Amino acid sequence: MLVTGGAGFIGSNFVHDTVRRHPDVEITVLDALTYAGSQSNLDPVADQVTFVHGDICDAELVDKLVAGTDVLVHFAAESHVDNSLNDPSPFIKTNIIGTFTLLEAVRKHDKRMHHISTDEVFGDLPLDSVDQFTEETAYDPSSPYSASKAGSDMLVRAWARSYGIAATLSNCANNYGPYQHVEKLIPRQITNVLIGDKPKLYGAGENVREWTHVDDHNDAVHRIIAHGRIGETYLIGSGDERSNKQIIEKILTLMGEPADAYIHVDDRPGHDLRYSNDSTKIRTELGWQPRYADFDAGLAATIDWYRDNPTWWKPQKSRTEATYKLLGR
Ligand code: NAD
Ligand code: DAU
Repeated sequence: MLVTGGAGFIGSNFVHDTVRRHPDVEITVLDALTYAGSQSNLDPVADQVTFVHGDICDAELVDKLVAGTDVLVHFAAESHVDNSLNDPSPFIKTNIIGTFTLLEAVRKHDKRMHHISTDEVFGDLPLDSVDQFTEETAYDPSSPYSASKAGSDMLVRAWARSYGIAATLSNCANNYGPYQHVEKLIPRQITNVLIGDKPKLYGAGENVREWTHVDDHNDAVHRIIAHGRIGETYLIGSGDERSNKQIIEKILTLMGEPADAYIHVDDRPGHDLRYSNDSTKIRTELGWQPRYADFDAGLAATIDWYRDNPTWWKPQKSRTEATYKLLGR
């Protein structure tokens, strides 16, 4: 198995999980080790994994690695909306050109590929509705990040239809759990509290996200690789929707602080209001359901992980906050 982006948040959790489930599988990770990736995320499984430091846009390297694998699991991406608003260019390069480069190798060597994507490709839903995204929802991305992911999905769909490559796709809702970069909502606020700073809520904080534990996401990916229908797309989501304000209040309460000990900062331009995935297809076809049904327990365990691993996140923290300061957020 070749795992791109396996030194990042979801990818490294996926590699840990794969080693636990399938100790017989030979895993190679291809990762460029951008600011978001760290080889140390793979330390617990270093003996069982071959690590290749390289770029998914490097056609020669990609061709060689894809030729030697049975299945490609493609997590590598520029993943943060705020960064994409600041500088879209690496998003176009990695998410679109990088995916194109992988697809060409998959086509040439006739390999199985699973492409990891996001619910953000569908745009957003009204706050005061019960509407949900489905596998048939038209793409309508809002940010350079989601537009570049939409572009990558379209390439995978086109290569599957026109060249018949053996690909599946999944679009997951917001993830949380260990090893998530401190730029993202939940780790940013946990680590703010840990350093004695106040959580930062964008705008009024009414925007809603559907929170899915990273292990549940990866369980869905394993099911799709094993039993998913070629050419199909599967939406993944826990069904647990919360406003950003509720999330920050919950973190503060779980960490023993007053629930209102946060500040409002400038809103994100073009800020998507609400995401919600109808995950009926993966639940009925592949028997997936979230194991982290209790969000508070999953969040408390995540808080414990950041409390116990300051050496992991402290090097990222000051640089991340310096960037946010420039953006007024
Ligand atoms: P992340 O930013 O934590 O990790 C991305 C990884 O990709 C890093 O290790 C980075 O070094 C690597 N990478 C970046 N550019 C590369 C390149 N050109 N070549 C090789 N490696 C490169 O991201 P994440 O949150 O783990 O997201 C992983 C995937 O899941 C992405 O495709 C993202 O769109 C998707 N996704 C994320 C979420 C979420 O909530 N985080 C939800 C749904 C889907
Ligand atoms: O929905 C899936 C997507 O979830 C993934 O495709 C992305 O890779 C991932 O980054 C995430 O995107 P979001 O933009 O939803 O996540 P983020 O953690 O950046 O922000 C979550 C919400 O919290 C969003 O409405 C913005 C808000 N926010 C974020 C930060 C960092 C705050 O209010 N304060 C903050 O400090």
